Amino acid sequence: SRQWRGVIEEYRDRLPVTAETPVVTLREGGTPLVPAQTLSERTGCDVYLKVEGANPTGSFKDRGMTMAISHAKQEGAQAVICASTGNTSASAAAYAVRAGMVCAVLVPQGKIALGKMGQALVHGSRILQVDGNFDDCLTLARGLAEKYPVALVNSVNPVRIEGQKTAAFEIVDMLGDAPDIHVLPVGNAGNITAYWKGYREYAADGPATRTPRMWGFQAAGAAPIVRGEPVKDPTTIATAIRIGNPASWTFAERARDESGGRIDAVTDRQILAAYRLLAAREGVFVEPASAASVAGLLAAAEAGEVDPGQRIVCTVTGNGLKDPDWAVSGAPRPVTVPVDAEAAAGHLGLA
Ligand code: F0G
Repeated sequence: SRQWRGVIEEYRDRLPVTAETPVVTLREGGTPLVPAQTLSERTGCDVYLKVEGANPTGSFKDRGMTMAISHAKQEGAQAVICASTGNTSASAAAYAVRAGMVCAVLVPQGKIALGKMGQALVHGSRILQVDGNFDDCLTLARGLAEKYPVALVNSVNPVRIEGQKTAAFEIVDMLGDAPDIHVLPVGNAGNITAYWKGYREYAADGPATRTPRMWGFQAAGAAPIVRGEPVKDPTTIATAIRIGNPASWTFAERARDESGGRIDAVTDRQILAAYRLLAAREGVFVEPASAASVAGLLAAAEAGEVDPGQRIVCTVTGNGLKDPDWAVSGAPRPVTVPVDAEAAAGHLGLA
């Protein structure tokens, strides 16, 4: 058997690359599609998790970043820039290192998880904490990329979407066809756009006989698409999707409408419950934003909106290690014991 080569080499014929494109990769993609027992029981469906936290920098962003950085390198760029709630910046920072490029990142001050900040720092990117939210960061990044010689690697860059669509290919390749429903969290709305593109291409070209219904979930305090207007001051504990004016808004609505899907909101309470259920019942540790997909599926099932017997895939977008605060807080503090088997056994309820 051979090692997975990364999404560009694995899906080269379906991506806008040429023989001349310098492939910058950390061998992203090829992530696990894990059957979810508890979620399947609770919904009466066949539920799978697409575990994107298994990517090299711990999120799905690597799929788009291998494309964006390879493309920027081919164009001769020496520096890249992005706005981020944390994962895009972590990914850009790592891939820029591989490409020998300078990476600048703009993040909302005080609103990104510590693990993600650590990634951007350790990979040597230039970090600016912006006194504003993600939407302000993106406005700033776009302006800088227009005026200065730096390539913008946010998902407004169409090659990012091209890379991210490979997750849909992997799911169809694994299951033999598209699922009935695909569920994912929605922030800047690039990923739902990318999956929909991937599923449509596979249905048009033969590997799939159909496309799934696309179900997206935003955090209730940051749900502009659900509300139908931008949210000026978005709030949610799921910092990755704390976005009030998504760049791919109209593409997300198109994915919803063309697929016969839905985009709805889940509360922070529902997100945290799903986050804990994924860890405690499925053995999959994700970051809070990632749990929005599962929270949405569970809420829909409880409302009787999920017909049993369907095949459903939930993308869980980022690794729980990036933002462990929510795992630690709210959990009982571990007790300290002496080096003594009897005492340890007593505390463990073994004696
Ligand atoms: N889940 C995680 C863990 C994310 O980091 C993001 C987006 C999303 C979901 C939503 O995906 O934006 O394509 O709808 N994070 C971006 C970032 C905004 O800067 O890392 P989307």
